[in-house]
Amino acid sequence: MTSLHDDHRVQEPSLTSYSSAVGQLPLLEWYRPTNSQTKVQPGEQHGKEVEVVFRELVPYIPSTTYGTFGLYRYPAKFIPQVVAYVIEHYGVRGHTVFDPFAGCGTSGLTARLFGLNYELWDLNPLLGILHEIAITKPTPVDVPQLAQKMLNSEIEWLPDWNNLAYWFPQEVIPFLSHLWGYYHSCSDETIKKLITVPLLKLTRMFSYNDAQRQKLSRSPKAMARITDLLRGDWKSQARVILQTEINTIMTKQLEYQSLMLDQGHVNVSIHAGIDTIQRSKELKGEKGHHWHLLITSPPYLQAQEYIRASKIDLFWMGYSEEQIRALRKKELPYHEVEAVPIFSPTFERLRQTLNEPKILQVYERYFYSVVGALTALSEHVQDYLILFVGPASLRAQAIPIDRIFIEHFEALGWIHEVTLIDKIVSRVLFRSKKNPATGLEDYRMKTEHLVVLRRNTVS
Ligand SMILES: C[S@@+](CC[C@H](N)C(=O)[O-])C[C@H]1O[C@@H](n2cnc3c(N)ncnc32)[C@H](O)[C@@H]1O
Repeated sequence: MTSLHDDHRVQEPSLTSYSSAVGQLPLLEWYRPTNSQTKVQPGEQHGKEVEVVFRELVPYIPSTTYGTFGLYRYPAKFIPQVVAYVIEHYGVRGHTVFDPFAGCGTSGLTARLFGLNYELWDLNPLLGILHEIAITKPTPVDVPQLAQKMLNSEIEWLPDWNNLAYWFPQEVIPFLSHLWGYYHSCSDETIKKLITVPLLKLTRMFSYNDAQRQKLSRSPKAMARITDLLRGDWKSQARVILQTEINTIMTKQLEYQSLMLDQGHVNVSIHAGIDTIQRSKELKGEKGHHWHLLITSPPYLQAQEYIRASKIDLFWMGYSEEQIRALRKKELPYHEVEAVPIFSPTFERLRQTLNEPKILQVYERYFYSVVGALTALSEHVQDYLILFVGPASLRAQAIPIDRIFIEHFEALGWIHEVTLIDKIVSRVLFRSKKNPATGLEDYRMKTEHLVVLRRNTVS
């Protein structure tokens, strides 16, 4: 079996060997970091609501999954154009961007392109792993030889997962065990970074998990797919998939490098596997934390269960049942939180209308956690607080999260610059019929709102 790509060797990115997409764009005409035209003057937008299409506003990034922005199918991730837009309009080279709910790290990856420093936090440990892979410059590797070594591995490794046999066909488990044995015994970090996502994808492909759903779930359709797959020469197919995916990673890494507008040094700080709610409380009074621009998309009001969606990957990466359970308990809006003052009449008014205890609990936990954390963190933010949220509803009652955030932060002295509203064209959201936290049908987001708040001392 040969590689699907004849040319599997990747050159180091250089200014003369840009990928085709960037080659089509007159780079310097699209982006002028020092051009005052792209910068918004404080107060210029007067708290307006403006309809935008972020994808079109930042044509410099050719697609939403271009380069390592499309490394991994992380639920509800930012499209990089949103962050790029924010940086172009409110960022300054050398300043620091902070995302306390960073997911797979889109905000950091985008900041890096523009030469801004960044700090990322997330409960999901995958953040650290994915970020490392995404920023790595590809080095030439003999892909068929690497795949051969992986397939010939004598070392066996299986995750600490009681339900393994429920999720994988019996005959596939030893096969995966050798591949992951290679991974977990590999001492070459560059190779490990190259094969992580291909192995995760291959492993998911051979599981009974339904790929159409974000959360781990078995379905008759997924079972039928596996039965079909196992009827053929699945081991040869696995080899082809592995090689193709490794090649894809190298291409994506190269594409990402080709977007780099600033090759200078950036300071990066990644905190993966941490509880932002807890950490933001500890930060109170701690000196030395200054971020210029906080940009984040907090978890949705309707529980999306990011850890559950990543569970299969976390197990194979070596996390134990116990560790995963501990992470799930900290996920928003599941855990109990102290009530915090929320200075929003809208919040209060809606609270009065929610008389079902379960629904009220979701509502309160959500806002106490997110607003509590953002308020504590905002004390360390020098210039802008930028929050990306979607409209939500509980029991058919619309919950304007953006309005609640605006009212609260205005009461704390922040100035509402603008809300940019993007109509979602094709966004992969969870397809679960019922929301586990509320037991209700999921509400589909139609638009997403980017709220820009400015510290009132910015002049
Ligand atoms: C909407 S997603 C952010 C996606 C991100 N913008 C991206 O581009 O990938 C919200 C994130 O909040 C994280 N989260 C949920 N509860 C958390 C907690 N208690 N502490 C830190 N992060 C948490 C989830 O793991 C998820 O990655």
